[in-house]
Amino acid sequence: MKILILFAHPAFHKSRVNKILTNGIDESENITFHDLYQEYPELDIDVKREQDLLNKHDVIVFHFPLFWYSTPSILKEWQDLVLEHGWAFGSKGNALKDKLFLCLVTAGGPQKAYNVGDFHNHTINQLLSPLRQTAVLCKMKPLPPFVVYGTHAIEKDEVLRHKEDLFYFLDQLINNQINGEILENFEYLNDFIAKQN
Ligand SMILES: Cc1cc2nc3c(=O)[nH]c(=O)nc-3n(C[C@H](O)[C@H](O)[C@H](O)COP(=O)(O)O)c2cc1C
Repeated sequence: MKILILFAHPAFHKSRVNKILTNGIDESENITFHDLYQEYPELDIDVKREQDLLNKHDVIVFHFPLFWYSTPSILKEWQDLVLEHGWAFGSKGNALKDKLFLCLVTAGGPQKAYNVGDFHNHTINQLLSPLRQTAVLCKMKPLPPFVVYGTHAIEKDEVLRHKEDLFYFLDQLINNQINGEILENFEYLNDFIAKQN
C-alpha cells in the first residue's frame, strides 16, 4: 500500500504540534508527504499533477489543523479543482475507486468540548461529514479519523505518543495488516489503535 499525505497548514512556520507529527514523514519510501501550501503558495493547484499523484497511491490522507471547524482553505480549493466529474465521480469517474481515505486532524479544543451539548456542540466526526461523504461519492473507503485534541496545552511527549501510534498504524496499512471491516466499528482511529496496544 502506498500512502499519499496531503498536508495543509497555512502557517507551518508557527506550528508546534504538526511540526512534531510530520517531522521525518517524507523519509519513508511508501509514504509521499505533499505539503500543499508549500507546493502552491499562490493556490494555483496543478490538477493533472495532483491526479497523477493520486493515481500512484492507495491511501489518501488529508492532514490538517482544524480551522473554523473545517479544513484550511487550500484543501477545499484542492477538492473543488482536483475531484473532477468523470474522473473522481460520476458513472465514468472511477479513478479513486476503492482507495482508502483518512483524515488526520489536530484541534485546539479539548476532546471533552467536542460533544453534542458541550462547548463546540459537535463531534469531530459530525464536522468531518462533508469530507467523508465526498470520499464516498468518489467511491473511496473512508477510515475513522485520527484526531489530536487540545493542541494549545498538549505536552510534547503526548504529541510524540500520538505520532508513534499513527506511524504504527500507517506501517500496518502499508503492509496490508489492517482489516477494514473491524475498523468500521470504531468512530476514531485513536480508539482502534488504543485497543490494539
Ligand atoms: C484560523 C484558525 C481557526 C481555528 N479554528 C479552530 C476550530 O474551529 N476548532 C479548534 O478546535 N481549533 C481551532 N483552531 C486551533 C488549531 O486547530 C490549532 O492551533 C492547531 O491544530 C495546532 O496545530 P499546530 O501547532 O501545528 O499549529 C484554529 C486556529 C486558527 C489559526
